[in-house]
Amino acid sequence: MDSRFQQTVQVHSGDQNVLSDQAQRSANQAIGFLMQQAVENADCISLAAGLVDEESLPVRIVREAVAELLSDADSGRKLLQYGITSGPERLRRVFRTNLARLEHCADELRDLPLSHLVLTTGSQQLLSLVTQALFNPGDICLVAAPTYFVYIDVLQAAGAEIVPVTADADGMRPDSLAAAFQQIESSGKLHRVKLVYVVSDFDNPSGVSVSAARRPKILRIVQQYSLDHRIFLLEDCAYRELRYDGEAIPSIWSLDRTRETVILAQTFSKSFSPGIRVGMGVLPQSLVKAVTDLKGNEDFGSAHLNQHIVASAISTGAYVEHVRSVCESYRRKRDAMLATVEHEFAGLPGVTWFKPQGGMYVWMRLPDHIETGFASPLFHRATHVDKVMYVPGELSYPANWPDRPRCEMRLSFGVQNVAGITEGISRLASAVRWVLEARTQQAVSQSSAE
Ligand SMILES: Cc1ncc(COP(=O)(O)O)c(C=O)c1O
Repeated sequence: MDSRFQQTVQVHSGDQNVLSDQAQRSANQAIGFLMQQAVENADCISLAAGLVDEESLPVRIVREAVAELLSDADSGRKLLQYGITSGPERLRRVFRTNLARLEHCADELRDLPLSHLVLTTGSQQLLSLVTQALFNPGDICLVAAPTYFVYIDVLQAAGAEIVPVTADADGMRPDSLAAAFQQIESSGKLHRVKLVYVVSDFDNPSGVSVSAARRPKILRIVQQYSLDHRIFLLEDCAYRELRYDGEAIPSIWSLDRTRETVILAQTFSKSFSPGIRVGMGVLPQSLVKAVTDLKGNEDFGSAHLNQHIVASAISTGAYVEHVRSVCESYRRKRDAMLATVEHEFAGLPGVTWFKPQGGMYVWMRLPDHIETGFASPLFHRATHVDKVMYVPGELSYPANWPDRPRCEMRLSFGVQNVAGITEGISRLASAVRWVLEARTQQAVSQSSAE
């Protein structure tokens, strides 16, 4: 059992025997425990929740889109019917045009077959389907360290071996990726490598993006090691459109000229609405059938009306306008968080943080000896006394990785308003100061006892 956390759900001892291996590997997920913590600490200011900014959710755009879509009873009824597994072709064309805009492709990506596009229930479903399509227990996935913790759980459920690859302020390091591949090859396990997973823009949790210079290098390394079988690169673009500074960078997918290596995962949850939960995958030809077959088993098509709502917002231009205003709002909140962090933490020795150009998170590192996990004095102090919650950084590393840092925190500026962010960071600083002082006092009393 993962010793980082234990769910307080009662399970009859005999019940374990009837569960599949996958269900048992899915027990003790980080996300489940985190949500339980959020419920138990409802009086806290949450800097933990990865929820999006409530104020800027597109109520008017969705209301108008639904009114328009259902204004004619006959065509409205069709949208309230089941759709098709990959999403209607007409809509996939709209989503392809939107992707072409993000990639700055003048030809609307007309050479990308619509059959390679699949509309999903958020990008999470795509991550899960791709994993099911590729992994048998013992197969290997290389991930940036740290990385999106819910995907770590998906991989663990599949029985995958997760290999962490060092990342820095420019994202996953190509030299570390090459070294990891070399080591796997020399241990005779290259045939077990199925996937490299990269969140290319404003990673969750670290906020870093893979730099333009590194993107082709990472792709080349993956292709170079695809010897007897193809190794895929899953590029998760969840936060791509939430950019507040600097120039957009072409996706790794756009560099894959043969379109046979990179799987692109895109979502409208962060840029539009997670309640609508529309995601999209662009698949290499060789994965189209497997992923749609698996999706057929799961739901034979995501919410049809929701896909139309997003497509309508894209077609009218309301979507682009909305993303612009959402980015302004997030920029203000990011700036408020960074300013307060600077004010509260700059004087504390050994505390560092990354200033993200986009996304929803500030990643903070405390001195090595200050643990941040659910069982740590800091987490206890923060949630019980100072009333603030964060995501412990260790969740974002494979649980069985002995070297994983234990002293980091993910701080979200997604859901709180500016006042909540400012207050939350001040409370967190108070908890950190308390732990630092307690450590100092302990050291003093130890040395006077000696
Ligand atoms: C990096 C990353 N990928 C994927 C997702 C899944 O989001 P959704 O299923 O809503 O598209 C999230 C959600 O937080 C995320 O942070």
